[in-house]
Amino acid sequence: MGRIRSIQCAGDFVECGVNAGFLSSAILSYLDWDGLGKRFYLIDTFEGPVMEQFSDEEIARGRRAAAQQSCSAGAYVTDIARVRRNYSEWRGIEIVKGRVPDVLQAIDTKSVAFLHLDMNCAYPETSALRHFWPYVSNGGIVLFDDYAYFGFDEQGRAIDEEIAALRAELLVLPTGQGLILKT
Ligand SMILES: C[S@@+](CC[C@H](N)C(=O)[O-])C[C@H]1O[C@@H](n2cnc3c(N)ncnc32)[C@H](O)[C@@H]1O
Repeated sequence: MGRIRSIQCAGDFVECGVNAGFLSSAILSYLDWDGLGKRFYLIDTFEGPVMEQFSDEEIARGRRAAAQQSCSAGAYVTDIARVRRNYSEWRGIEIVKGRVPDVLQAIDTKSVAFLHLDMNCAYPETSALRHFWPYVSNGGIVLFDDYAYFGFDEQGRAIDEEIAALRAELLVLPTGQGLILKT
């Protein structure tokens, strides 16, 4: 059983960019998830990044080439049965296969306590932030995996523009992640 048995913040958990589920599985293990009564939406193409979503600046910076290389090396999980098996021990798990932002219309939660964005590409990350922001609860967390990570400058800049429009504030973490606490 996980260590955290109650969470004050209302709402479900959402991750865009799941792959094999490293971070979300760690979160689920750390929490006493089944006792919380929340849902965890895990959204991914489960086919790797969407190559046409990279901007010209990201392509120039080598982000699309890096994604293509990772795909060729088999770094992205395509076996959805394996993903389902990984999460079968927890309740309230919604595995959603599709492209962000197109697939977001299918997500029925209207209250989000935790949003994790880890798609390594500016367009789906800013689109997902814009989509979910009105639903993020007071005290809810938005975590960007690569906001200030080496080589992700274009993504960080695009997120900066989006959060300025939302009048949000972001804390940069030494890991390269970016964290917003919505108040
Ligand atoms: C770096 S991995 C995610 C790692 C994961 N968070 C973990 O803890 O291991 C990036 C994932 O984003 C997914 N992805 C990229 N662009 C996407 C998009 N537009 N829609 C849905 N998934 C996307 C890829 O398929 C890939 O699995």
